[in-house]
Amino acid sequence: MKTRMLQAEGHLIDSGILSKILNNILAKGGDYRIVSFTVGKTPEETSQLEIELIAKDDSILESLHNALKILGVFEKSVPSAMLATVDKDRHAPENFYSSSNHRTEVFFQDTWHPVENQRMDGALVYDAGLQKFFCRKLRDLQAGDLVVCGSDAIRIFPVEVERKVSDKAANDFAFMTNTVSSERSVDTAVEKLAQELLRIRAKAGKTVVVCGPVVVHTGGADALASLVRHGFVQGFLGGNAIAVHDLELRFYGTSLGVDLKTGDVSEHGHSHHMRSINRINGCGSMQAAVDSGILREGLMYEVIKAGIPYCLAGSIRDDGPLPETVNDMIEAQRQYSKIIEGADLIVMLSSMLHSIGVGNMTPSWVKTICIDINPAVVTKLSDRGSGQAIGIVSDVGFFLRALAERLENFGA
Ligand SMILES: NC(=O)c1ccc[n+]([C@@H]2O[C@H](COP(=O)([O-])OP(=O)(O)OC[C@H]3O[C@@H](n4cnc5c(N)ncnc54)[C@H](O)[C@@H]3O)[C@@H](O)[C@H]2O)c1
Repeated sequence: MKTRMLQAEGHLIDSGILSKILNNILAKGGDYRIVSFTVGKTPEETSQLEIELIAKDDSILESLHNALKILGVFEKSVPSAMLATVDKDRHAPENFYSSSNHRTEVFFQDTWHPVENQRMDGALVYDAGLQKFFCRKLRDLQAGDLVVCGSDAIRIFPVEVERKVSDKAANDFAFMTNTVSSERSVDTAVEKLAQELLRIRAKAGKTVVVCGPVVVHTGGADALASLVRHGFVQGFLGGNAIAVHDLELRFYGTSLGVDLKTGDVSEHGHSHHMRSINRINGCGSMQAAVDSGILREGLMYEVIKAGIPYCLAGSIRDDGPLPETVNDMIEAQRQYSKIIEGADLIVMLSSMLHSIGVGNMTPSWVKTICIDINPAVVTKLSDRGSGQAIGIVSDVGFFLRALAERLENFGA
């Protein structure tokens, strides 16, 4: 029998991580011996686990160990991180460590170092001058960079392990766990999100909204504009379409040519979105349209007026595109991740493309809520690693109107 001594620490019992660790070992054909387990006595105190992993050969042992790493389990006698030099720009050493979105530390020169700029699918670069590790996209690697190879000197902290029992706000928000349910009461979701938005606004925190054009088609744009106007949104991400359709609504009262008040199809309405783009082109930009008084209301008006950072990422579907749409995808990704930096909460509203894009660049400890009519969107987010996303299956217009109504007495 082959054995390896491992350890884990955190809120192992309340989070259910301990049973996940043990079940995982047995399910994958291994065995274990608990060497010691110290239970945190107060809700603030963490538990410590020391466990001997047992398997019949080295390859099973290795695969078991790898499966446990994502649960925050790490080696007891951690070796110092192996660093290798990048030979040419954008090309990591073959066995580079590819990051997850969980908080990560690297054991190097006898101490654990926290990783900065955490995101999934990055390499870990050591800055010898700063003596710090950073997550970096492969395309940003430069010849000479020192990159962590292998995963033996890595430990990660899944969000559940870190969530304190006493953190009422965090636990309240993770209501009904982060699985998607169409039976979950939308009223409860509206209430919890309203409380969270109020809490974040009160502490001058940061809420970032990711938004698709369905918000306009379903009559939710005014409600969202009101949230922006009243300081509930500190960053706005979307594509060309959300702006185009919001402009169509402001200039023509229609969305995709349908009068949003009467529901009637407007004559020549199909051209309204193109005429809206044309009008903005005439002004030079949406900003210029706001400055000159041509654009006087609406979601984009409020975003621009509030001066909150925003990015409209281009796509192959785009009409126009509008002057402010960022068509260089690398640049759009850069702007997105800058806007997400330091976010307390990300609210994803009916855009599969941009929601998954944002999920890819967001650390797992950032609270994320995704409102979409299709439960598969949240499942997709989770499958791609954004397991923290809470899914609310609802018509987004209905949801936003209910949210704005709930926050009416607080300015919205
Ligand atoms: N005219 C244009 O320029 C134009 C038009 C459309 C899209 N686009 C661009 O195409 C890209 C993808 O667009 P997207 O994000 O809209 O598409 P998407 O397919 O990525 O996402 C649309 C989402 O809306 C959800 N949805 C549909 N009806 C809903 C409802 N009533 N309530 C809640 N959710 C609902 C769907 O389930 C889906 O997940 C974007 O970059 C966008 O800007 C451009």
